[in-house]
Amino acid sequence: MTNMKKNFPLDKAYRLLNHGPVVLISSTLDGKNNIMPIAWQSPVDLDPTRLALIIGDHSHTFKVVGKTKELVVNLPTVELVDKVFSCGKCHGHEVDKFRKFNLTPEKASKVKAPLIGECVANLECKVVDDKMMDTHNIFIVEVVAAWVEEGAYDEFLRVDKPNVKTLHHLGADVFTVPAEIIRAKKINV
Ligand SMILES: Cc1cc2nc3c(=O)[nH]c(=O)nc-3n(C[C@H](O)[C@H](O)[C@H](O)COP(=O)(O)O)c2cc1C
Repeated sequence: MTNMKKNFPLDKAYRLLNHGPVVLISSTLDGKNNIMPIAWQSPVDLDPTRLALIIGDHSHTFKVVGKTKELVVNLPTVELVDKVFSCGKCHGHEVDKFRKFNLTPEKASKVKAPLIGECVANLECKVVDDKMMDTHNIFIVEVVAAWVEEGAYDEFLRVDKPNVKTLHHLGADVFTVPAEIIRAKKINV
């Protein structure tokens, strides 16, 4: 017998799936850098690594990335939670978020958009498909360079440090972080 289930509001159904790490999208246009947090992101291909990013057309980032076709996906950890949340409450055409939230723009190697120095990892990306930009705000990007903080990832290139806590958005101002690293055993079939 399964546990009893109850109905869940459809307009909040995304929250049942919304546990991938929140990332910060950095972009630049005409010498103005910007930062936007997004929770809706997913890898879609391995080689080359491609990601799907949902960047709403209400945002300044949508306009910038639509023009420049490049950005950086930065991975924040728990120490940055207030800054991550606050970056999502204002717009880049009104506020210089790097300055306001005391974050450090660093030069990227293959794109003009800056890396965010305080993030544990940074993926430099170029837009390779924007066909769904106008219908679904979806940008397919390819990772063209990737950087990680020394010591944060193990020899298998996995996060293996309990102190590296990525942020996972549960809705509104509520986030969760990974509590522990666990290793699964394969059940023989
Ligand atoms: C934790 C969090 C997650 C968010 N996820 C998304 C998202 O997946 N897609 C999106 O379009 N907006 C998302 N937003 C809203 C944008 O970050 C917000 O509109 C931001 O102010 C846009 O910045 P910009 O106008 O400077 O580009 C999120 C906000 C927060 C705080």
